[in-house]
Amino acid sequence: MSINFEKNGLIAHIKNSSISYILEVIDDKYLINRYFGKTIREYRETNTFQYFKRGYNTQHISSIEHLSFDDFPFEYPARGHGDYRIPAISITPSTGIDFIDLTFKEWRILKEKPKISGLPSTFSEEGETETLEIICEDVSSGIRVYMYYSIFDNLGIIVRHQKIENFGIQKVTINSAKSLSLELPAKDYDFLSLYGTHAKEANVSRFALHRGIQKIESARGASSPQHQPFFALLSPDTCEESGEVYGFHLIYSGSFSAEVEKDQFGNVRAQMGLNPDNFKWSLESGEIFETPEVVINYSNNGLNGMSQNFHKLYKSHLIPKKIMNQERPILLNSWESMYYDVTLDKIEQQSNIAQELGIELFVLDDGWFRLSNSSKTSMGDWKCNEKKLPGGINKVAEIIHKKGLKFGLWFEPEMISKASNLYSEHPEWALQIPNYPMIEGRNQYVLDLSRKDVQEYIINIFHEYLKDGKIEYIKWDMNRPLTEVNSLELDFGRKSEIWHRYVLGLYYVLETIISTYPNVLFEGCSSGGARFDPGMLYYTPQIWTSDNTDAFDRTIIQSGYSLLYPPIAMGAHVSITPNHQTGRITSMNTRYQVARLFNLGYELDLSKCQDYEIKEIAEQIAESKRNKKLIQYGDFFRHDVQNDNYSMWSTVNSDKTEAIVIIFQKFHNPIKSHCLFKLNYLNSDFDYCEKNTGKIYGGDELMSVGLSIPLIKSDFHAFAFHFEKIS
Ligand code: GLA
Repeated sequence: MSINFEKNGLIAHIKNSSISYILEVIDDKYLINRYFGKTIREYRETNTFQYFKRGYNTQHISSIEHLSFDDFPFEYPARGHGDYRIPAISITPSTGIDFIDLTFKEWRILKEKPKISGLPSTFSEEGETETLEIICEDVSSGIRVYMYYSIFDNLGIIVRHQKIENFGIQKVTINSAKSLSLELPAKDYDFLSLYGTHAKEANVSRFALHRGIQKIESARGASSPQHQPFFALLSPDTCEESGEVYGFHLIYSGSFSAEVEKDQFGNVRAQMGLNPDNFKWSLESGEIFETPEVVINYSNNGLNGMSQNFHKLYKSHLIPKKIMNQERPILLNSWESMYYDVTLDKIEQQSNIAQELGIELFVLDDGWFRLSNSSKTSMGDWKCNEKKLPGGINKVAEIIHKKGLKFGLWFEPEMISKASNLYSEHPEWALQIPNYPMIEGRNQYVLDLSRKDVQEYIINIFHEYLKDGKIEYIKWDMNRPLTEVNSLELDFGRKSEIWHRYVLGLYYVLETIISTYPNVLFEGCSSGGARFDPGMLYYTPQIWTSDNTDAFDRTIIQSGYSLLYPPIAMGAHVSITPNHQTGRITSMNTRYQVARLFNLGYELDLSKCQDYEIKEIAEQIAESKRNKKLIQYGDFFRHDVQNDNYSMWSTVNSDKTEAIVIIFQKFHNPIKSHCLFKLNYLNSDFDYCEKNTGKIYGGDELMSVGLSIPLIKSDFHAFAFHFEKIS
């Protein structure tokens, strides 16, 4: 990894063994992007920028003949002086005119990766990253922009963010400040993103990039299941196992937008950041604003190459180290077995069986604090309903701990029920717009997390529950998008800041709680995956992937999220059949095979399971415990398969001596095709024993010829293989 200045300090070349990112200062003023992609040993300007005389165009005042901004690959473009494409930054200074002119001032190398104040970001230890700091400014407007690019050793990743400083004497307004703006050369790309809805998250959308602007966004106050804050630009022939990919992922949990413009010449500008529709920020003299961090990923090893970069980055540089170094517990969650109707008897009964099965953590989900068995009351009060649970949460914790299990509890801290003591005492704590009705979502309002008193209230609730160490896990839920997004407390001139201030407030609360209780395991949730993003992952090392626990749907949802997230970050539970969300019937084995390479849990009424099912679950848990290291620290791959009636995953350890491979058959087809499944991520020089059958195969044969599977007359069938190197 290195950052070098070349051409008398006019070119900066950021590189490691996988990627190069090259910037140039033109005409002593303008910062442009020259290249991003596979590593270049030494950059000698084969792609010299060509200036053309064109009609219906503007010529910039410059010593360079025909310098036009119409196709100039600006690194952080603004509008108004001849670049008509999507701008990265828009600021209204004291002139009242949305116009700034940023020019390059200086750059330098930082050995330590800078932190972003109030926002989650990737971290690194000494020697793991180098950072390029670039300063651009507009002296007339008093605006200085600091741009940070950090490169990691051996990863095809650069992370980037901006810091905007008002060094003038008057207040300015930031209308938009993207985290990413990247110019890519004119060629054909596919645009890939993840879209969805509640209980059907992370579907892959892929289409050929066309002229004009393509955009995805969330304007819901949370990153949302509708669009993940991610997109990728791929060569049209890129597949899971080969091809070029540029991937972008925003470390942020609120509204975002991502846009790609293919311009008149076919050049491509890719941007992502805070959603300008939900954002404006007043910057007083001397103040600083920081954008969220964006992850920029390049691979020429297909979508799996991109995923490996993201997974490695998040495992080593985003998820809290302390939690990442511990094996995650296999849990039993009460939701689908009890819903709101939680009782001590049920808890006693379920945890007895859980103990026999070897389950390690019992999670008491919603219901424990509700006055009725519904979502209508009590949110915000967080007082245990002792009519349901005599002796309160302490008693429940005692029952669970006596069985040798850890105890976890569900909260939805950002919400308030109209029918709550908290709302009677503090109606002003909810987001609201005077003289307009307040809209409920799942019978609840949203607390104004920008307020200090609200932040302290939530923090104190957690102190109350966590201080004596009886709770080892918290599920942090958030079950509705934001409406009436206004804080009664915020000054008139700052009203548009509330969307971002809400997220900053959330991060402050999480940071305070998590740093006080670093041993507590937090699982994020938002009606499943409605706020599954790298911002939350920084605080909650595992996230409940989807409220849809159906095994077949989960093969799609988990595949989608696995483009970005390591499987250990994704909660995957074996639930009852017929499935509560889809009514689909799948075998216990299929439900387990779909969940086992992820963060395994169970969410079903164990007392209703037949003896043979209990036996099967006990075997699953024993097997999963034996394979915990492989699953938590191994590399996860999706495979290209010849026939879309199948999908295939594998988890392989780093030295490729062990792998679990799972093949899913969607539907039984009586006219069976001869499908072969190649295990492309083994070592061709090794011989492997398949542990279930004892058969021995060469890695080369598994990789080049591929496995065939028997005819099984069953829909939704899963085939599992476990290979171990023989010496
Ligand atoms: C959300 C979560 C579920 C469960 C319920 C409880 O829907 O996604 O897992 O916790 O809330 O109300």
